Amino acid sequence: MNEERKKHDAFEAHLDNELIRLIADAARDMRRPAYLIGGWVRDVLLNRNSKDLDVVVVGNGIELASRVAEKTGKKGSVRVFKNFGTAMLRYRSWEVEFVGARKESYRADSRKPLVEDGTLEDDMRRRDFTINAMAISLNKKDFGTLLDPFNGIQDLQDKVIRTPLDPGITYSDDPLRMMRAVRFATQLNFEIDPASFDAIIRNAERLRIVSAERVMEEFNKIMLSDVPGRGIKMLRAANLLKQFFPELDDLHGVEIVNGKAHKDNFYHTVQVLDNLAQNTGNLWLRWAALLHDIAKPATKRYDKEAGWTFHGHEYLGKKMVPGIFRRLKLPMNEKMRYVQKLVHLHLRPIALTETVVTDSAVRRLLFEAGDDIDDLMLLCEADITSGNRDKVRKYLDNFRLVRKKLVEIEEKDRLRNWQPPVSGEDIMEAFKIPPGKEVGIIKTAIREAILDGKIPNEREAALELMEKEGEKLGLKTDHSAY
Ligand code: CTP
Repeated sequence: MNEERKKHDAFEAHLDNELIRLIADAARDMRRPAYLIGGWVRDVLLNRNSKDLDVVVVGNGIELASRVAEKTGKKGSVRVFKNFGTAMLRYRSWEVEFVGARKESYRADSRKPLVEDGTLEDDMRRRDFTINAMAISLNKKDFGTLLDPFNGIQDLQDKVIRTPLDPGITYSDDPLRMMRAVRFATQLNFEIDPASFDAIIRNAERLRIVSAERVMEEFNKIMLSDVPGRGIKMLRAANLLKQFFPELDDLHGVEIVNGKAHKDNFYHTVQVLDNLAQNTGNLWLRWAALLHDIAKPATKRYDKEAGWTFHGHEYLGKKMVPGIFRRLKLPMNEKMRYVQKLVHLHLRPIALTETVVTDSAVRRLLFEAGDDIDDLMLLCEADITSGNRDKVRKYLDNFRLVRKKLVEIEEKDRLRNWQPPVSGEDIMEAFKIPPGKEVGIIKTAIREAILDGKIPNEREAALELMEKEGEKLGLKTDHSAY
């Protein structure tokens, strides 16, 4: 191993730390060499503050963890993972992982390696990327020295993701690393080394042995990056996307009939996602952007008059969301329903701006979107990706008008999370009728009248209309009830 050893100024202040001193003392008590390794070392060099430490000891990681815990007087906070030979210690805001230096060999059908004790060099060689394979010595003779056998520092400067070994071996050993390569490249705005990229393309199918949960953990880190679209384009170019997200991959491509082309919905989608990412860190809103046009391939038609159409893609898209979430092991709860709702409503504000923006149309939108109206507006503004500047300006101007009206109508009518001023029970009680279709007809008439602005959103007016609507159905109120 071509070892580069030197003191590095960046670490001096960070190593002057009580916990790190305790770890170094405990390793000395065991007479075993120990090192800080991986993400923390990388993050110090990137000026990122990390409270996750990885410690590798040429010896027993679990023993070192318990000795450190003893020194902290907080023995209870160690968790031991016997099967993996690792232990985790929580101390104040720190989370420390201890592991014995290992040599690993992998089998073709599993991510679970066969593990043997090894040297520090063995351990560093089996790590994912050169920037994650740097270590800081905690040993007396060279405390604070940086060990950088694969030139990770240079790769940090050059902004390159590269594997310590031949990339074919590193990725085939643990296919999750292909997702990690794209994730780090996206988070840090690095490039993936071309040899690595080729190896990912060759090994992409092996992603199938990785659990959906692990893939999603990396994918969501890509989604939360500053420019997530860059990562998603990389995933597609590396053949990874279609392994776990064929619906997104299928958005790619342009069809031409009679010289008419539709836009490439993949590039449109990532653009919408990147536009939105500038205005929100909300992961699920970003997911709504990712899925807003997901049903376009399935609804695509060519019409001689109208050209390309995608009628109903917002409804079908809403229906596709649960299947996608279930397969990707994403939450099947209110977060999924929120994504569904935004996918369903994503055309509404834009449809509004194409006609005169009437109060009643705004009222309806407010009624359906409820508290998610502001998120929906952000999504719709991000959805304008036309290259035609005049068009963009026109849409954005109209959106400003819609937003203004939303505020006015909200103040006046309080329609956000609207509850009708007259309930189904009120109607049954007033006319002395059982549940049935008449109740629905009257309720709908009241709701429509309020949304159309024909009556105010108030109980008195609603009761009056209820009586009239009841009469039309041959019903009479029992006035004693009111
Ligand atoms: N590692 C690896 N292969 C993996 C996962 C992790 O070689 N599939 C190694 C890397 O050396 C990595 C270290 O284990 O630096 C710790 O992994 P992890 O905590 O998942 O990532 P970090 O590098 O700490 O980065 P982040 O905190 O951003 O996840």
